Amino acid sequence: MKIKALVILLVFCMTFVFCAKKENTSLIEKSLFGKLNDGREVYKYILTNKNGCKVSIINFGAAVTSIVVPDKNGKFEDVVLGYDSLDGYVNDRAYFGVIVGRYGNRIGKGRFKLDGKDYQLTINDGKNHLHGGIKGFNKALWNAEILDSLKEASVAFTYSSPDGEEGYPGNVNIKVVYTLTNDNALRIDYYATTDRPTIINPTNHCYFNLTGSFENTILDHKLTIEADSFTVVDRELITTGKIATVDKTPLDFRTPTSIGERINDKHEQIVFGRGYDHNWVLRNYNKQVRKVAELYDPSSGRVMSVLTDQPGLQFYSGNFLDGTIRGKGGVYYKHRTGLCLETQCYPDSPNKSHFPSVVLRPGEEYRQTTIYQFSIK
Ligand code: GLA
Repeated sequence: MKIKALVILLVFCMTFVFCAKKENTSLIEKSLFGKLNDGREVYKYILTNKNGCKVSIINFGAAVTSIVVPDKNGKFEDVVLGYDSLDGYVNDRAYFGVIVGRYGNRIGKGRFKLDGKDYQLTINDGKNHLHGGIKGFNKALWNAEILDSLKEASVAFTYSSPDGEEGYPGNVNIKVVYTLTNDNALRIDYYATTDRPTIINPTNHCYFNLTGSFENTILDHKLTIEADSFTVVDRELITTGKIATVDKTPLDFRTPTSIGERINDKHEQIVFGRGYDHNWVLRNYNKQVRKVAELYDPSSGRVMSVLTDQPGLQFYSGNFLDGTIRGKGGVYYKHRTGLCLETQCYPDSPNKSHFPSVVLRPGEEYRQTTIYQFSIK
């Protein structure tokens, strides 16, 4: 009798595990996206959650190529800019959806000193270094591994950046895990190690447009940023080192404000940025994940909350988009059809000793968690 019960229990357990696994395999679909000139294959991973939301990611640049979420009427639409084919990503200079690094954002003159030694990084933005250089993380082919979780769809992307790449010291191993949760969030977990002292500050560079149509601009989106101050920039968008209050400036997003309302203001910072292209000094930085921003599109009812453990947030209002880039579905992306909310350490931190440190040493692990949480109002 006991044996019979045991056998029944065993069969039950095996059926459960089998079904759960089967269910899990349907959470992620993998398909060939294209081939690089050297013949290497690039794959696309489509993550689906139990509500029917979908996130697509390719292993070239570990780029998010689409995020499909419902509006207030239950209509599922894509909310991130991107390209239909691999060529777009290979030739891209706008950083659509990619992981940027080693250092997201600018380093003045591409120079920094670490432990008394001078380093010169690639110059790729006027006289400065931007987003990891000419061949940063965004142009690398990452290894991908579908993670065997029974509940949520996750894919881990890894890349080994060799010592000296784009001028950075140390062999760095980076892992970025994208998870689509069942409460409609895209969670991004970053992990990195090095074999020599180095600097690191990766981020994701998705351009969001919550309206559901890339014919629309983001000017009517309402934005809230949990920050009382920002890092001041010069004409070249390099941080001066000054941290200024947002009070009585067009950079005050402490209450929900339409992006278009003050974007053409004559304030020097807005003129230098050609709109918004600044780093906000986020409240309550204690290395724990907390909500730092909310983006709301009244027309679709879509809301995106940004949660992160990082000290800074770059809000870039798509000022360099000028109608020349042909994106998904053949749509040309006009001025300000997308905006970025890049979670990060402050720009040019290696040259600003009073900013939080971006130094990573052997034996330590760099960690970041950022969550883009979608809902409706
Ligand atoms: C970042 C920068 C912008 C711009 C874009 C890419 O977000 O802050 O100045 O370089 O990337 O076009």
